[in-house]
This record gives sequence, C-alpha cells and structure tokens, in this order.
Amino acid sequence: MTVPADHIVDEFRAALDHNAVLTGGDADPFLFDPRNLRTADDAVVVRPADTAGVAATVRICATHNVAIVPQGGNTGLSFGTESPTDRPSIVLSLARLNQIESVDPDRSTITAQAGVTIEAVQNAAKAVNRVFAPDWGARGTASIGGGIATDAGGNNVVRYGNMRDNVMGIEAVLADGTIWDGRRALVKDSSGYDLKHLFIGGEGTLGIVTSAVLKLRPATPYETSLLAAITGLDALAPLLDLAQQHAPGTVTAFELMPLVAIDRVVNVFDVVKPLDADTEYFALVKLASSNPIDGQIAAFLEAGAEASLIVDAAVAGTPEQEANLWAIRDHIPPTSAYIEHQHHGLKLDTAVPVDKVKEFVQSVLDAAAKIAPMALAYGFGHVGDGNLHMMILPITDEAVEPWLEVRDAITTEIDRRVFELDGTLSAEHGVGLLLRDRIGPQKPDIEWEMMRTVKRALDPQNLFNPGKLIPLVG
Ligand code: MLT
Ligand code: ZN
Repeated sequence: MTVPADHIVDEFRAALDHNAVLTGGDADPFLFDPRNLRTADDAVVVRPADTAGVAATVRICATHNVAIVPQGGNTGLSFGTESPTDRPSIVLSLARLNQIESVDPDRSTITAQAGVTIEAVQNAAKAVNRVFAPDWGARGTASIGGGIATDAGGNNVVRYGNMRDNVMGIEAVLADGTIWDGRRALVKDSSGYDLKHLFIGGEGTLGIVTSAVLKLRPATPYETSLLAAITGLDALAPLLDLAQQHAPGTVTAFELMPLVAIDRVVNVFDVVKPLDADTEYFALVKLASSNPIDGQIAAFLEAGAEASLIVDAAVAGTPEQEANLWAIRDHIPPTSAYIEHQHHGLKLDTAVPVDKVKEFVQSVLDAAAKIAPMALAYGFGHVGDGNLHMMILPITDEAVEPWLEVRDAITTEIDRRVFELDGTLSAEHGVGLLLRDRIGPQKPDIEWEMMRTVKRALDPQNLFNPGKLIPLVG
C-alpha cells in the first residue's frame, strides 16, 4: 500500500480547498516524467494553493508518517519525483503556488512562488528592464521551485551562474510544518551559515521551498547570437578566450552543438539550418550588452578565423534568426528530437573543470567507440561552464539488444573518467534516483556523512523525498 489510507486523504481534503486533492485517474497526469515514464503506479496528489496549505499538508504527513514527493513543473531528468514504493507517500504539487509576489526593480529582485515558471519570471524581469538569467529549453514549464531543488543551470551559466547564484532568499516549509521565511534581499550578509544553500540543490529532501527572492541583472538590449562552424574540439577553449578578449563581459552563452545533433533537429522540426558548413562541431555563442556590440562581434569572428578556429559563421541579424538558432539548441535533447530508443540510452549531465572539457569529450567518445560501437555518441551543451550532455544512444532496432549488454560497462567507465578528472555526474539536473547509487565515489565519505547529518537534523522522520540524492537515512 503506497497511497495514504482514506482517513488521511480526508484530512487533506478537510484542511485544503476542494481543488487541492486528486486521487485515482485524476492524479494520473502527475505520474509521468518528461520522458513519459511512470513515476508511480497510483498516487494521491495534493496541490495546496498557498504556503499555509503546504504547511498544513506537511503537518498531516508528519502526523501519519506519510512521505512527501515534491513536484514542480515536472521537467526533471533525474527521477527526482519517483514515489517511494516501500511506504505511503503523496505527490505534493507546487503548481498552484503560481504568483509573482513582487517585482522590485530598485533592488533588482523578483519574489515569486515556487510554481511560477522560469519564463514567467523572465518576462516579468523584462517588463522592468531587467534580466532573470537562468534559462533552459523547458523554461515554459519548469518552475522556480524545481529549478531551486536541482540547482538548475542552463544556457547562461557561463556569465550568470546556476540557480544558486540567482537566488537571494527563500521561504520553506520545514518537517514539522513550520514556515521559515528567509526571503531576504541582501547582497551581503555574513551573519552565519547561509541556510538557503542547503535547500538549493537539496532536491526537496530537507523541506519544501514555497517562494524565493530572485536576483535580476541589468538589461542587455544588444543581444546577438551566432553559430560558428569550428575546426574541432581543440578550438573550443581558445575560441571562448577570444570571445572574452574581444567582447569582454558580454559572453552570455557558449554552447557546443555537434553537426549530427543539428541535422537531426533540422530533419524533425520546423527550423532552418543556418549554415552549410560540414564541420563536426559548431559553437553557439550569445553575446549581450547594454551597448552596441557589432564591432566586437566582427573582431571576434575575424580573430577566430585568423587563428584557424572558425571555418564559417552565421550571425543572427534578425529576431527570427536569433530565435531559429535557439530553437535548434532547445530541440537538441533527444526527448524532444524523437529518437525512438533514447530511453534505453545514456544521457549525461557531467561537468568537468573547463580546461578538461576537450579531454573529457574525446575520452567519452573513445570509450563509446571501444565499448559500445553499436551506439551513436555525441556531446552537446554548456561547454563554456564545463557542463556537457554526452549522449550514447542505440538508434536502430538491432542496436538495442547489444547496447543493453554493454550499458553498465560503459556507464562505469564514463563515471570513472569523470571522477578521474575531478568532475561531477550532476551539474544541473540533480541526482534524484538516477545518479544516487553512482555518485558516491565523487566525494569523500565525510561529505556524504555531513549531508546525512544535516538530513537527519532537519528531517528526522525522513518525510521529504526519501531515497533521493543521498541514500536513505538509517
Ligand atoms: C539542456 O541543456 O538542453 C538541458 O539540460 C535539458 C537537457 O539536457 O535535456
Ligand atoms: Zn543542460
């Protein structure tokens, strides 16, 4: 029995409004992840409309020892919203906490509830001539709460950092139902432990983030993206260096796009191939500033060509061309590019120190060629901050069976290489269940033990998202 008993469900109904509790078939839409894989056979979904409702829900769960699996926009990729199978649990959806509570241009902050989408905050920031920097393909669905839970990153991290660098304060409901309001908007504060950082990247294991003060950046009305056909992986680091030299302070995104991925997107989606070059790799670069940057972009491209790093480049000259470049990028993740057997494959969210990117990509490609020659291997993503999404996928019917035989071996080999390079298996998607049992060797035992100690202290009943991120607390 993994759903709470009826009398507990009645308590949720009594404490919350009539829209708040979904059971049976009504709960079903909440029980699939973005790959359409089921996260629970059956569940009770509780959807409070405000922080007080979240607190009431947590109190009921604490009384009856019912586990809580928080859910934001449900775009996560690390099985962070799977329901436990060994104890009663609820899915706690934050989707109805969808209010932007205040927009404060004088402080350059927005305070938003957990269920507000990334895109809604971006738009609210734009309306006051500011930028909310976190941005990734699922921006229209992914929520502030989910982004905080996984310390999500995306395309602009090279300039503005992960979610962690864009959150100034949070409100959270703790394990006994206490509401902690830590929504301070202080640029500096050295008054002790910065507790919000335990919850950012905490994957809902320590408490439920209900609202956050988000940091805004100055507007950058002059924005240009370009796609450069590059001579190879060796060109990446010097090219980023050239961009920083010729257009200092403007490099907002620096993404690796392999030809094989671009071609797949162009074949499936209504996008235009911006460049006919047939180099194996492309760099998608976004430069943004409060001042005109055309001259800097021209100088950067010229220097890149002179140094034999760039073969050809397409610079977006219109908003449509700009949107086209980013549509190609957004569609690269194969969940949306309709690769039939992708769910059997490996998709990595690894990061390595930026000077090791080339070595890492090449070594994964080499390992794949050796161990899994039947699979298609390529890497794309946030090369400017060291976070590469390597894909190793069986793409034909015949490849699936032999692939499944070597999947564990190639996974172990890649993990070993990540650890060898002092990298991480999870840079922005979180650990969830997907990586929980692989990530151990990445940190010394004492770090995991400190995490367990924090978990035990803040959630002694192990109510919050049990089994995720760190092994179950004993
Ligand atoms: C991306 O970089 O596109 C996002 O992390 C999403 C993904 O990898 O699927
Ligand atoms: Zn990414």
